[in-house]
Amino acid sequence: MLSRLSTATSAALRRGIATSAQNNAKVAVLGASGGIGQPLSLLLKNSPLVSKLSLYDIAHTPGVAADLSHIETKAKVKGFMGPEQLPECLKGCDIVVIPAGVPRKPGMTRDDLFNTNASIVASLTTGCAKHCPEAMICIISNPVNSTIPITSEVFKKHGVYNPNKIFGVTTLDIVRANTFVAELKGLDPARVTVPVIGGHAGKTIIPLISQCTPKVEFPQDQLEKLTARIQEAGTEVVQAKAGAGSATLSMAYAGARFVFSLLDAMGGKQGVVECAFVKSDVTESPYFSTPLQLGKKKELRRT
Ligand SMILES: NC(=O)c1ccc[n+]([C@@H]2O[C@H](COP(=O)([O-])OP(=O)(O)OC[C@H]3O[C@@H](n4cnc5c(N)ncnc54)[C@H](O)[C@@H]3O)[C@@H](O)[C@H]2O)c1
Repeated sequence: MLSRLSTATSAALRRGIATSAQNNAKVAVLGASGGIGQPLSLLLKNSPLVSKLSLYDIAHTPGVAADLSHIETKAKVKGFMGPEQLPECLKGCDIVVIPAGVPRKPGMTRDDLFNTNASIVASLTTGCAKHCPEAMICIISNPVNSTIPITSEVFKKHGVYNPNKIFGVTTLDIVRANTFVAELKGLDPARVTVPVIGGHAGKTIIPLISQCTPKVEFPQDQLEKLTARIQEAGTEVVQAKAGAGSATLSMAYAGARFVFSLLDAMGGKQGVVECAFVKSDVTESPYFSTPLQLGKKKELRRT
């Protein structure tokens, strides 16, 4: 697993030392007590790239923070609970990851979450625009196809909008595509890279199997089944969990991978590429996911 998290982080974890990448980062998780928030916070606590970890939720953060704070890694963990503690949580953050909101139950689409999650994301990102406008904002809360435009409008309203710093985290689609292709071809999944473009819901998820590294080929019927499985993989988990929520552990892994890539790039590492749902002029759609070359501060180029 570590080999996927980021070269710098995995090598550093094996050696137990800090890396040349940015390694004094303050990272906040908003929704830290949830199914995604807790394992994501654990993975972040385990990274030598993170020196401060701020955990915010409307419930249970004192316990989650106390628990994680006993782990023998350098990140200082602090819990914050309730809106009055949000400003302090966000102050000085380099990266804010947001998995706050309700997950799907069987029979629901991601769009069914809009009414509840839109207002949660709007209020949390208002806090970000006010208290850490320079931070990288990574939104996990669904529907990502809507929560990214909402976040963008919130930042515009506060006069601090920088499209290069607002990301819809679609990494789980790439992680799933890599895994499923590797399974079918008998490859090591850590060595498979499938770009996944478009959006983050059903048919808007477009895996580019033809662009896979290493090159792989499938007969048409297998390609169609594989594509459909990647598009509906979230639903596969929702059904298997039978009412107990959606993907949490694999999402925590994917969220951590994205944060570590950002930290690597912010620390000056060259050639860091991740797909994410961002403001885009690649197609007619104003927001779109494509492979992005991550860089220091404002340098973000589409590859
Ligand atoms: N981007 C992706 O690929 C992807 C994958 C899986 C799930 N998700 C989404 O992630 C979100 C979270 O899923 P989960 O399984 O962790 O849900 P969960 O219910 O287990 O946890 C959500 C957490 O958010 C907290 N919360 C609710 N309102 C809040 C607020 N106003 N401020 C701060 N925290 C608040 C809750 O207290 C809870 O701890 C859902 O919207 C889900 O659809 C996205």
